[in-house]
Amino acid sequence: MNLSTSISHLKFKSCICNASGPKCSLLEELQNLDNSVSCAVITKTSTLEKREGNPQPRYYDNLLGSINSMGLPNQGHNYYIKHSEKINKPYIISMTGFSLDELITVLTNIIISKTNFNKKIDGIEINLSCPNIIGKGQIAYDFKELDNYLKEICFIYSNLLERFNEKPILGIKLPPYFEIHHFETAGEIISKYPIDFITCINSIGNALLVDIKNESTVIKPKGGIGGLGGSYVKPTGLSNVRNFYLQFKKRNRDIKIIGCGGIETGKDAFEYILCGADLLQIGTQFYKEDVGCFNRILKELTEVMKYKKYNNIDEFKGKLKTI
Ligand code: DHB
Repeated sequence: MNLSTSISHLKFKSCICNASGPKCSLLEELQNLDNSVSCAVITKTSTLEKREGNPQPRYYDNLLGSINSMGLPNQGHNYYIKHSEKINKPYIISMTGFSLDELITVLTNIIISKTNFNKKIDGIEINLSCPNIIGKGQIAYDFKELDNYLKEICFIYSNLLERFNEKPILGIKLPPYFEIHHFETAGEIISKYPIDFITCINSIGNALLVDIKNESTVIKPKGGIGGLGGSYVKPTGLSNVRNFYLQFKKRNRDIKIIGCGGIETGKDAFEYILCGADLLQIGTQFYKEDVGCFNRILKELTEVMKYKKYNNIDEFKGKLKTI
């Protein structure tokens, strides 16, 4: 059974890794992932400077999923550059900025660490969809901003890496969209740019879970409002993967799709690949189960594929039938 996948020139031994978010902020957490069967190590979304994040409690989960308003606690992007040498598998830095200028500074520093100092950075996932920053909307919900950000990002990326042959793969993390014309608009904008992948979906922003016993919110920041993950969001994630798969197919664009949102079992993984995902990320379930989830989900996916007589993921990727 072959569960490997690739994005551009970067090869992954399997198709399941962690999502940027839980347990990927500190070196020991990144090394824990490196020692697991996760096929890559993705960092917590990093910013220009180190951040403490929002007040606690800022994460809560139940049987159906999770809500968080972490507020981007991270060690600052230089930390993730510095420790890249210690990771032995595909290493992807997630990053963002609180303005376009700041984002470009972080991106430039990461790229220069690769071109000038040969740091082991295999990919960059630019987070355009953090829902938890007080007073800030999600960039990818503003299509003019999305277009402008992508223009600047790709300009810097192409210029700095012009003569570099093993470029880090470049992708963006998107929020969930809910309207067909939004898939169309976002698909059209993204297709104009030379990015390697999109990750969809980030958490469903500004959700609210209620503690009925205490008649209260379950997390503290923003009056209890935060990003929703886990089973709650799987149908939305599947729809986003499917719709972007069709958008890129229609436009003849080879942009890979990393599926994320409520993957708990091998069956969930199979569904995402069937909808068009090339690689899968696990967030809430990784938080709950730790690194054992990667092995278990891969084993379950293998069982589903054996039962259906598939030998590799390309045999069913994107091949969802409609009735
Ligand atoms: C956070 C949450 C997200 O969903 C995200 O994409 C980035 C950061 C956070 O609150 O830390």
